[in-house]
Amino acid sequence: MKIPPVKGTRDFYPPEMAVRNWIIDGWRKVSVRNGFEEYDGPIFEYLKMFQIKSGDEIVEQLFSLQDRGGRDLALRPEITPTLARMVNQRINSLPKPIKWFSVPRLFRAERPQKGRLREFFQWNIDIIGVDGVLADAETIFCALDYLREVGLTPDDIVVKISSRKLLAAALKRIGVPEERLDSLYLVLDKKDKLPPETFKHLLSEQVPDPKMANKIQAFMELKLISEVEKMFRDDQEAIEANNEQAMLIHHLNQMEVGGYCRFDPSIVRGLAYYTGIVYEIYDWASGLRAIGGGGRYDNLLRDFGGPDIPATGFGIGDCVLSILLEEKGLLKSEKTGLDYFVACVGGLTFESENGIVESTPEDEAVKLTSKLRRLGLRADFSYKIGNLSKQLGDASSRNARKCIIIGEEFKDNQLVVKDMTSGEQELVDIDEFLSGLKS
Ligand code: HAM
Repeated sequence: MKIPPVKGTRDFYPPEMAVRNWIIDGWRKVSVRNGFEEYDGPIFEYLKMFQIKSGDEIVEQLFSLQDRGGRDLALRPEITPTLARMVNQRINSLPKPIKWFSVPRLFRAERPQKGRLREFFQWNIDIIGVDGVLADAETIFCALDYLREVGLTPDDIVVKISSRKLLAAALKRIGVPEERLDSLYLVLDKKDKLPPETFKHLLSEQVPDPKMANKIQAFMELKLISEVEKMFRDDQEAIEANNEQAMLIHHLNQMEVGGYCRFDPSIVRGLAYYTGIVYEIYDWASGLRAIGGGGRYDNLLRDFGGPDIPATGFGIGDCVLSILLEEKGLLKSEKTGLDYFVACVGGLTFESENGIVESTPEDEAVKLTSKLRRLGLRADFSYKIGNLSKQLGDASSRNARKCIIIGEEFKDNQLVVKDMTSGEQELVDIDEFLSGLKS
C-alpha cells in the first residue's frame, strides 16, 4: 500500500527544498540588514495560549492534541503569541526596543486551496517597545525591502493600509455598540474573501439594520484619506487615527516605498489582537489570497500577563509568495552544485617501483575527494567507477563546476582538470593543484 502525504502538506524533494531555502535565505538576509535578530519557540504550546487573543477563526483551525499527562496542546498556527510569551518571560532583562524575526513552520486546519495549506512557513518581523508609527513604517519597509529585492514592483503588488482605530471610530459613529466590535471585525475581514451575497448575509447577522449595514459597506469602499477626514471632522478618535496614517505614509515616502502603499479601509485583519495600523499585501493581477499581513497589537503582552508594552509586526507566508514569483518568472533556487566532481578511469592500478599494487583509481578518487571536502569545497565522486563518460554525465547532472579525472597521468603525479562549462581541460601537478587550493 502506498501512503500518500497528509492533505494540505508538501513534500520537499531536493529541487523544491532548494526553492524553499532560497526564499528563507532571502528573508533572513533582509531581516538582518534591517537590524532584526532571529528567535524561535516550540512547535507546540498550551492550547489555551491560542485561545486568549488570536480570535475565533484561528481557534477553529487549530490542530490540537493531548500529551500523556492529559495537558491540552496545539501545533502553533502563528508565532505572535509565542513571541509575547517569550518577551514577557524576560521583560526586565531584554534591551528595548526588541527587533526580532523568525521563520516558523506553522499549522492551520484550513480548507486547502491555492496559496493556503495546512502546513507552511511564515516570515515574521516584530518590533516591541515602540509606540510611534515609525516602527509600523519600518516593518512595512522591511517587507518591501525583500519583495523589491526579489523583483516585485509597484505594478505587481500593493500594501493596503488601514487602521483598527479608524474603523472602531467609524463603526461607533454608525451606531455599532463597542462590545460588538470584535465579532464584527471577523465578518468585515471577509468582505473581499467571500462572494458579495454571502458577505451581506453574514453582515446582516451582526448588524440587522440594513441602513447601518449599508453605511458600513460604504465606509469600507472609501478610497481616499481626505474622504474619511471629511466624514470625521469632529471625532477626536478618528482624527488621531487619520493623523497616524498620514504620518505613516510620510515615513514610507521618505523610505522610498510609498509607491507600493495605498489607503484601504476594507483592510480589517482576521486576528483579534490588532489595535492600530493594519495592512495586508496583495498582488494586483492574479486575485491570490494575501501575500502577508500585519499591524499594531499594543495590548497583547498585557493580555498575556505582562506589562503594557506596544508592539507591531507582520507575517508573510511562503505559499502565495512562491506562486506569485513563479507566475512572474522570478522564482529562483538556492545554488546546490558541486565545486569538484572526482572521476577516474577504470582498469588502472597504481604500483610502487617493486610492482606492488598500492592503490586503485577508486582509492585515489576517495582520498582526493576527502581532501577537497576537508578544504571546505563541495566535492563528490561516483560509485560507478570505470566508465568515464558516465562519470562525466554524473558531474554535469550534479552541476559540478569542474571535474577532476584520475587517469594514466596520475602515475606521473598529474591530474586532468576539466572545466564543465567551457569543456577545456588542463593537466596539473597534484601537489601544485592542492597547494593552490589551500592558499
Ligand atoms: P495572518 O494574516 O494570519 O497573520 O498570516 C500572515 C500570512 O501568513 C498570510 O498573509 C499568508 O501569507 C500566510 N498564511 C496564513 N495562513 C496560511 C495558510 N493556511 N497557508 C499558507 N499561508 C498562510 C499572522 O499570522 C500574524 N501572526 C502576523 C503578525 C506578526 N502580526 C504581527 N506580527
